[in-house]
Amino acid sequence: MTTPSLISALSRRLEGKVALITGGASGIGECTARVFAHHGAKLVIADIQDDLGHSLCQSIDQTNCKYVHCDVTDESQVKNAVDKAVKAYGKLDIMFNNAGIVDKSYARILEDQKTDFERVMSVNAMGVFLGIKHAARTMIPARSGSIISTASVTSCIGGVGSHAYTASKHAVLGLTKNAAAELGQFGIRVNCLSPYGLVTPMVMHFLGGNEEQVENSFNSSANLKHVTLKAEDVANAALFLASDEGRYISGLNLPVDGGFSIVNPSFQMFQYSDQP
Ligand SMILES: NC(=O)c1ccc[n+]([C@@H]2O[C@H](COP(=O)([O-])OP(=O)(O)OC[C@H]3O[C@@H](n4cnc5c(N)ncnc54)[C@H](O)[C@@H]3O)[C@@H](O)[C@H]2O)c1
Repeated sequence: MTTPSLISALSRRLEGKVALITGGASGIGECTARVFAHHGAKLVIADIQDDLGHSLCQSIDQTNCKYVHCDVTDESQVKNAVDKAVKAYGKLDIMFNNAGIVDKSYARILEDQKTDFERVMSVNAMGVFLGIKHAARTMIPARSGSIISTASVTSCIGGVGSHAYTASKHAVLGLTKNAAAELGQFGIRVNCLSPYGLVTPMVMHFLGGNEEQVENSFNSSANLKHVTLKAEDVANAALFLASDEGRYISGLNLPVDGGFSIVNPSFQMFQYSDQP
């Protein structure tokens, strides 16, 4: 029989924990903030969209959710965000480096601009580096912590993103492995998540059209059919890595991609049809 305390542990999987979420005002970050709050975490949302961030905090919990303006490419702002979490709640248990941007994908590398490459690397890779660095600063003395970063299926395969985006997400995976190697000695776990494509404001802004069209287009290239990837699926994967259920998992790139990144469909090995 399931005891009431077990039910409570399952439903409040982050009770007593403090989490900082970069890029937390929108999309995957916003959804993860709501899921973490539901599971009892105290939150700091760090983003550059101040109005969205403030209203998200108000809608979650004004006491246990605080917003801080933080451009993840600026080390002093990342340091300030981490310090704000420690000042407000006394510690930092979970760092979710989720802020990210995309750039236009050109048919030829000859059209790619150095400035675009630098901008994407600065947010997606440097931002994660700074987030890991400043989370580690507070987690090392505590001898515990869970650092999670949002990578992408482009962290491990080619041909599904721009050169800059793909390079930046490979960098997130490299940073994850290297930081896990260093920080394990302090009881700190470092992991990343690699989602397949899903509808978020970033994707809608980039691809245009309506949400149904974008979802249909993702679904048509997906490996796992009859399921559409949602932000909640990514948030739940982050919840697992953040919670004590993932307490011995470190250095992992957790795909949230329905098997997309492990399949090469070009040989047409199996019968692909809707009929069993
Ligand atoms: N949506 C997808 O299909 C998809 C797939 C795989 C990975 N991802 C990754 O998921 C993460 C979240 O993206 P999303 O799809 O939820 O997009 P989103 O645009 O909805 O959210 C990204 C957030 O990051 C913030 N941000 C951007 N630049 C920032 C900066 N310099 N400093 C601080 N915050 C900044 C934005 O303001 C925004 O709130 C990104 O790292 C993205 O690369 C998205």
